[in-house]
Amino acid sequence: MSKTTDPIALREWIVIGAITDVPQGVPYRTRLLGQEIVCLRHGDAFQVHEVDGDLTSQRQVQVRTRYGHVWVCLSDEARPMIEVAEFVDPRRRMITWGGVYVRTSPQRLVENFLDMGHFPFVHTGILGAEPVTEIRDYKVEVRAEDAEVWATECMFYQPRASMAADAGRDTAYIYRTSGPFVAVLYKTAEEEGAVDNIGMLVQPLDEEHCRVFGYTLLLEEDTSDTEALHFQQTVFLQDRLILEQQTPRRIPLYEKNEIPARADAASVGYRRWLRAVGMQFGVLPQQVKEGSLQ
Ligand SMILES: [Fe+2]
Repeated sequence: MSKTTDPIALREWIVIGAITDVPQGVPYRTRLLGQEIVCLRHGDAFQVHEVDGDLTSQRQVQVRTRYGHVWVCLSDEARPMIEVAEFVDPRRRMITWGGVYVRTSPQRLVENFLDMGHFPFVHTGILGAEPVTEIRDYKVEVRAEDAEVWATECMFYQPRASMAADAGRDTAYIYRTSGPFVAVLYKTAEEEGAVDNIGMLVQPLDEEHCRVFGYTLLLEEDTSDTEALHFQQTVFLQDRLILEQQTPRRIPLYEKNEIPARADAASVGYRRWLRAVGMQFGVLPQQVKEGSLQ
């Protein structure tokens, strides 16, 4: 596949790796929105070029390091990057987990991240358990100059909400998407009144192949980095199994009667946002019926 022409996708800042993933002085090759790119790192300076099939450098593109990751934008008119206030909280420590290849569209990944309905069935005994499968009502709204969808007041019973949890409890969630490829959640932490912050940063290689990066900003001190990493990996690998079985890989966003497979208010809000901005990359094109002028 060649580089997408969808301006919505092209204007996004997209993660291509944790900063520690990119080696010094060795070309780091990857793909983004159907475009081959090469990243070169010298110290803390990064340069990224689009390359053609012979790896000949073409256009230089924008690159930034933030939130522990390397972000690239293929357009000269980048949309502002997500602001996550918890990153400046010195009590938190960041664990990065990622680089996991998943054969699906970026929108399926984000939608799965937003979906509490699958917890009891996919993350049984960890993030959910039968028979407690009810989703209680919560609010969905668009914020940040129409760039973000927020789902608030989400509440779910979890047998083991985190590595440090020693008993089941009701867990409060806030979900937030920024553009089509970044999703962040806030959930009740073990410390009284505190919330953990977890982000999923999708690198769409093309419309149906992605790499997924993520971070956890932890407050608790009892959990080691390795334990927290294993917890996230266990959860995400359960998701991957389900995601790769979903068909079609691209969401049929513009079909009138299409209902999300596991509909809930957050994914409905995300789909509404995708439609409102006219997203084309990663979704099935609008069906044009024969004989109609649509
Ligand atoms: Fe999941």
